[in-house]
Amino acid sequence: MTHLSARGEPQAREKRNARGVSGAGCFVTGTDTGVGKTLVGCAIVRALRARGLDVAVRKPIETGVGADGPLDAQALREAAGSREPLDAICPVALPLPAAPSVAAVEAGHDVSIERVLTNLRAAIAAHTFTLVEGAGGLLVPIAAGYTMADLARDLALPLVVVARARLGTLNHTHLTLDAARARGLRIAGVVISHGDGALSAADAKNLAWLRSELGTLIVGEIPPLAPGATPAADAIDVETLLGRCG
Ligand SMILES: Nc1ncnc2c1ncn2[C@@H]1O[C@H](COP(=O)(O)OP(=O)(O)OP(=O)(O)O)[C@@H](O)[C@H]1O
Ligand SMILES: [Mg+2]
Repeated sequence: MTHLSARGEPQAREKRNARGVSGAGCFVTGTDTGVGKTLVGCAIVRALRARGLDVAVRKPIETGVGADGPLDAQALREAAGSREPLDAICPVALPLPAAPSVAAVEAGHDVSIERVLTNLRAAIAAHTFTLVEGAGGLLVPIAAGYTMADLARDLALPLVVVARARLGTLNHTHLTLDAARARGLRIAGVVISHGDGALSAADAKNLAWLRSELGTLIVGEIPPLAPGATPAADAIDVETLLGRCG
């Protein structure tokens, strides 16, 4: 079993090879809800599998879950080709489409952070790479006084930050990166997703500014896709991500 210190340094690494490090992973967060975390998470998982990696996925808390079950967890499970039961991939599924802490109170569900952490740490220890998708953005509360940022820190996983392409993303992206750094979280990369379609000329100039500010921190950009389409296999630089996720 690989143990990770509070600073995110693996204390007892299992064997390293050209394809990655056992116990590696990333925590996918976003500048907002609905920015493309699941789409990007699935694309990363597919690209890692195509390289022969054994990838586990987790959506530890999903809200807005209806009769069809947790859709993010299902999408990630399918991308990973996983046979794990859905309730292992998503141990906390709540109906109210709200922040986890709010949806939990509504459901009368007392989210046990310890149980969530135990589930996630077991996945990280058992697989070469574990991708965890948060809910909403970085400071969304899971329980009173405990946010997605706290979860990423307790797992010692570096962040993949998904940012919207449209106006407002300069502010939202920098706020997210600053909040992460202030909490000692590592940033593995930023992926921009064009979920709102084609950009105006002004929005495109804003985005160019963000690209030049972030430089090599940007590891991918997903153009506007047709409904149901998946990103191109090379849309995200997973080799760079892997190098930052050990
Ligand atoms: N580049 C893109 N082109 C077209 N549609 C996109 C793109 N990026 C995201 N979307 C669409 O935007 C919607 C939200 O994306 P997604 O579900 O991945 O967001 P999310 O951040 O995971 O949301 P949540 O906070 O609910 O988990 C989905 O319908 C997705 O297909
Ligand atoms: Mg999602």
